[in-house]
Amino acid sequence: MYNLGMTGPKNRLIIAPSLLAADFLRLGAEAAAAEHAGANWLHVDIMDGHFVPNLSFGPQIVQALRPATSLPLDVHLMIAPAEPYIAAFAAAGADHITVHPESGPHLHRTLQLIRSLGKKTGVALNPATPIDSIAHVLDLVDIVLVMTVNPGFSGQTFLPLQLAKIAALRRLIDSTGRPIALQVDGGITPATARHALAAGANALVAGTAIFKSPDYAAAIAALRTAAPAPRPALTASLG
Ligand code: DX5
Ligand code: ZN
Repeated sequence: MYNLGMTGPKNRLIIAPSLLAADFLRLGAEAAAAEHAGANWLHVDIMDGHFVPNLSFGPQIVQALRPATSLPLDVHLMIAPAEPYIAAFAAAGADHITVHPESGPHLHRTLQLIRSLGKKTGVALNPATPIDSIAHVLDLVDIVLVMTVNPGFSGQTFLPLQLAKIAALRRLIDSTGRPIALQVDGGITPATARHALAAGANALVAGTAIFKSPDYAAAIAALRTAAPAPRPALTASLG
């Protein structure tokens, strides 16, 4: 069974390039290049100009991307309401569907819907959203996504106060005994990745750090080698 790719030596750390920073004129080629460069998942940011102040892709773009890569399509829905569009993204070829708790009144029901369509479930926490918002639905969650910027745009600066949230989520996830991915999204560079990984993350989304670099494979390798070993204590600043 597909297990999110969290086992095996290459995949202990999951790298998910975010297409939001790619060349939109060449999206298929960009997806293939990310796969060739060693990515694990392909992160696709969906924005509605309402839940976040930007517009990006819809299900048709996900469908067009599907044959361009064999990587799992990690679809991050920054739309409200999300539930009416879940089936369309599932049919388009999304492998993971991540929603925000604020994007509908019934998070539990939304996660059940994603599961019923045979997809992996994700819940994304905005910087101001507390861990408590998912504590009672964790049995339905495959991916917890910690936003380390306010959602809406690539190229923003990592918010270090979210490190404490990542560390607390690592403890919570470990207490479940389930293989839930702990993913971090926003402002990821080798320097910030090091802190996120030290806090307990095992999946990194990176837009600018990969797609705005001249060598995607080198950029992905730089994120992989940012991993501290063994996991050091959580540091308070990014100094
Ligand atoms: C922001 C998106 C991110 C974004 C990350 O709303 O969820 O996935 O593309 O871009 P960088 O890595 O440039 O911060
Ligand atoms: Zn995202």
